[in-house]
Amino acid sequence: MRIDSKFLAMIRRQFPAVGADPAGRKRAFLDNGAGTLVTRRAADREHEARIDWSANVGNLFPESEGASQTILDGRMAVADLLNAQRPSTIISGESATGLLFSLSYALGREFSGSENVVTTGYEHYTNISPWVEMGSNLEINELRFAEFDRDTGVLDPGSIQERVDRNTKVITVAAASNVLGTRTDLVEIGKIARDAKALFIIDAVHHVPHELVDVRKIGCDFLVFSGYKLFSRHGSFMYAKPEHIKKLSPYKVLASPDRGPEKWEQGTRDQAMFAAISGAIDYLAWVGNPSAKRPPKPGKQRRMRLMQAFKAIERYEKELMDIALHGKGKTPGLNDIPGLRLYGPSDVGKEWNRDPTFSFNLRGYQDRALSRKLWDKYRLAVGAEDYYSRVPAIYKKKTMLRATFVHYNSKAEVLRLLSALDDLARKKR
Ligand SMILES: Cc1ncc(COP(=O)(O)O)c(C=O)c1O
Repeated sequence: MRIDSKFLAMIRRQFPAVGADPAGRKRAFLDNGAGTLVTRRAADREHEARIDWSANVGNLFPESEGASQTILDGRMAVADLLNAQRPSTIISGESATGLLFSLSYALGREFSGSENVVTTGYEHYTNISPWVEMGSNLEINELRFAEFDRDTGVLDPGSIQERVDRNTKVITVAAASNVLGTRTDLVEIGKIARDAKALFIIDAVHHVPHELVDVRKIGCDFLVFSGYKLFSRHGSFMYAKPEHIKKLSPYKVLASPDRGPEKWEQGTRDQAMFAAISGAIDYLAWVGNPSAKRPPKPGKQRRMRLMQAFKAIERYEKELMDIALHGKGKTPGLNDIPGLRLYGPSDVGKEWNRDPTFSFNLRGYQDRALSRKLWDKYRLAVGAEDYYSRVPAIYKKKTMLRATFVHYNSKAEVLRLLSALDDLARKKR
């Protein structure tokens, strides 16, 4: 399976907003790191759940049974996406931030205050603040940041290892930096966590549209991701190893169930959120075999299709990354545009494992003004922010521009960004 121009056209038809903004202006959407566009299947399933299965769960009439089934279907789809043991390992929440806070409250009950937590230097604050709060509540005594290489943006797992000691009870990392694009070596860090008998937590929010994760292969204890970064709507999911679901005591209201993922879910769940994520995951399974007559069966067959899909997605995104970094024909890449400073890995390959997320500044332009120019003049949607990350400050910047490509972006869109930046750079030469 290969994403060629014909298949890309089919893929783009699955995203009603891919080519134009709501006013019908043709544009390239490159702000995928902040939230991807929604696939038709996710929106259709959400609509169906909203109208047909709008009742609350736990009763005997069809609307209620349909709501319970929709939630189960959503858990099954997420379990296939992550290769989780079973659907009951999937917990839903309002956001990844909410889920990690909730996890930290549960861990706070277990810790004595002498423990430390090790993380990377490129986390989103979602994976910093819960541990900082635990420190303020005297539930841990230190949060340690493993440095990444400032020139390459790469994190050596040895940098995590150096910070681990016998009081390390949690190692928590982003699967990929939402600013630098750097991929974290999850398998290696998983081994470090197991040797240290520490819990291994993964924030996969940024990474999840780019690579198929496998929680069993990685051996993580928890993993969070958000639907709005995976072609679906807002609302997030956390995988937890079965023993943790059972043993830990999350904050909950007394009357809510004492077992299963429901024990972790605060308040009434929204079945439409589960419907939408199952639509997004089935869309991805379709990418794995677009000519299949029927949608895959949940379980092994769907997982297999997802594996095929992500093989194609990774291969295609690598092509996009090569063009973005090195250019094509007369169009220079991000590495070569004069006055452009790119942060993070400047190449792609085994040693430079990265996602197609490119943060940069351009000499002579303020970030926000450049973002505006890219929109007004070139119809390119590219953000300029701090991305709730310590990374801009590490490079002594308040903000950076960021373009994130996903598999529905075309090579022409990458080239459009490069030519626009080259054009703007020339004006300041
Ligand atoms: C790496 C990473 N973690 C966490 C978040 C926040 O996720 P949520 O909005 O679901 O809390 C983001 C959002 O940009 C992110 O990029």
